[in-house]
Amino acid sequence: MRSGAVIEPDGQDYVNIQLPQLRVRIPASCPHKGAPLSRGTVFGTFLECPWHGALFDLRTGRRLRGPECGDLEVTCVAEVGATPEPPAAEEPGQ
Ligand code: FES
Repeated sequence: MRSGAVIEPDGQDYVNIQLPQLRVRIPASCPHKGAPLSRGTVFGTFLECPWHGALFDLRTGRRLRGPECGDLEVTCVAEVGATPEPPAAEEPGQ
């Protein structure tokens, strides 16, 4: 079950995951024993490793449960529905 998430390998080193309101890029391999995270299961904004069940928060990369290992390096690629920065105010006389 992937709850609407789309997981796409990005070359050999990274995986892109499209969540309903967030697109992130993570390493292709689990920091525990190297499982292919493209085969993981997404629950909301969490990813469960397919081999030993480590659970990572895709917003922060933090490991929440499972075997001792490092956190995920997460890069936020895009936030859907994010409020754009307002344009800078023009100086008078321009
Ligand atoms: S390889 Fe991912 S939890 Fe073990």
